[in-house]
Amino acid sequence: MITIDNLLPAGFRESSLRSDVATGLTATPKWLPPKWFYDAEGSALFEKITELPEYYPTRAERAILRAASGQIAVASRAGTLVELGSGSSEKTRLLLDALLAGGTLLRYVPVDVSESALRAAGSAVDSEYPGLDVRGVVADFDAYLGLGASAPGSGASPGSGDGAGPRLVAFLGSTIGNMMPAERAVFLSRVRSALRPGDAFLLGTDLVKDPSVLIAAYDDPSGVTAAFNKNVLSVLNASLGADFVLDAFDHVAVWDAEAEWMEMRLRSAVAQRVRVPGAGLTVSFEAGEDIRTEVSAKFRRDGVAAELAAAGLEMRSWWTDAACRFGLSLSVPSDG
Ligand code: SAH
Ligand code: AVI
Repeated sequence: MITIDNLLPAGFRESSLRSDVATGLTATPKWLPPKWFYDAEGSALFEKITELPEYYPTRAERAILRAASGQIAVASRAGTLVELGSGSSEKTRLLLDALLAGGTLLRYVPVDVSESALRAAGSAVDSEYPGLDVRGVVADFDAYLGLGASAPGSGASPGSGDGAGPRLVAFLGSTIGNMMPAERAVFLSRVRSALRPGDAFLLGTDLVKDPSVLIAAYDDPSGVTAAFNKNVLSVLNASLGADFVLDAFDHVAVWDAEAEWMEMRLRSAVAQRVRVPGAGLTVSFEAGEDIRTEVSAKFRRDGVAAELAAAGLEMRSWWTDAACRFGLSLSVPSDG
C-alpha cells in the first residue's frame, strides 16, 4: 500500500525559492542552495551521475550496504525505515531486504523535496514489496524532517512510528555534505530531538581522498555533472521567469583543501545582466564571476563521530568500502 503526503505548505516552494535567490544572488560572492537542483530533470540528471565511472560514492556506499545491511537490521530491529532525501531509493532496497528478512519491517517512509522522484521511487518500491506500508512524504528537511511531530499546519506525522516499531532514520548518499557545517549541526540536533529511545540513525558520508579523484567525480568528461549544475539556472528560468542563457555559464569544480569540500560553481563566461522577475531582481555578472551552487564536504571518521556527539548521538558502528572511499555510521541517542 502506498500513500504520498505533500507536507510543503501552499506556496512554500515559490516563496522559499524567491527568498533564496534574492539572498544568494545579491551576496558577494554569489551563491544558490543546492536543493534547487532537484526538479524532475535535475533528479534524473543526478541518477545519471550515479552511473558515471568517475562518480564513485554511490557504488562505494552500495558495496557497504551490501555487506552491512544484515548487521544494521539486527542492531536496529526497525519496524519503520524513514529515509531523508531518498531520491530513487535505489540503494535502500538493500536495507529493505535485510529488515524484511529480519522480520521487523512494516513501514517505509521516503522523504524528499522532489515530488517526481518520490512518486516514481515510492511506486516502484510499493510494487516490488507487496505488504510493505509505503508512506512517501514530500517535505523540505530544512523545515520539517518527516519525523515525529506534525508538519506545521498538516496534522500528519507519517514517520512517527505509531505502532510500527523502532525507527531507523537513514540519510544516505553523503547528502549531509551538501550542508554548511553550521547547518549540519542544526540538522543533526533536529534528527536527535526526533529520535526516541530504541531508534537509530544511519548516515552516509563521503571521505577525504586524493583531490584528483574528487575533481574527476565532479567534473566528468561526458558533461553530465555540468548539465546537472546548470539545471539550477533552468529551474530559475521556469519558476521565476529568469532569462539565464545556460551556454553563457561554465561548470567549475574546485577542491577547497582547507574546508575539505568540493565546490561546484557556475562561472559567467561574459559580462552580462540577467533578469529574474519572480525575485524582483536584475543580476549583473562580471566576466569570470562565479555563483557557488553546491558544497560537497568530505569527512573523516573522527570528525563524523564528533559532529554526531555534539548533537547527542553516539556512533555505535562504522563501516567503509574496501578502498575507504566512503563511510557509513550507525548511531543512537547518547542518553537514550
Ligand atoms: N539518497 C539518494 C539521493 C541523493 S541526491 C542517494 O543516496 O542516491 C539528494 C536527494 O536529496 C535528492 O533526491 C533531493 O531531492 C533531496 N533533497 C535535497 N535537499 C533536500 C531538502 N532540503 N529536503 C528534502 N530533500 C532534499
Ligand atoms: C546529493 N549529493 C550528495 C551529491 C554530491 O556528491 O554532493 C550531489 C552531486 N553534485 C555533483 N555531483 C553529485
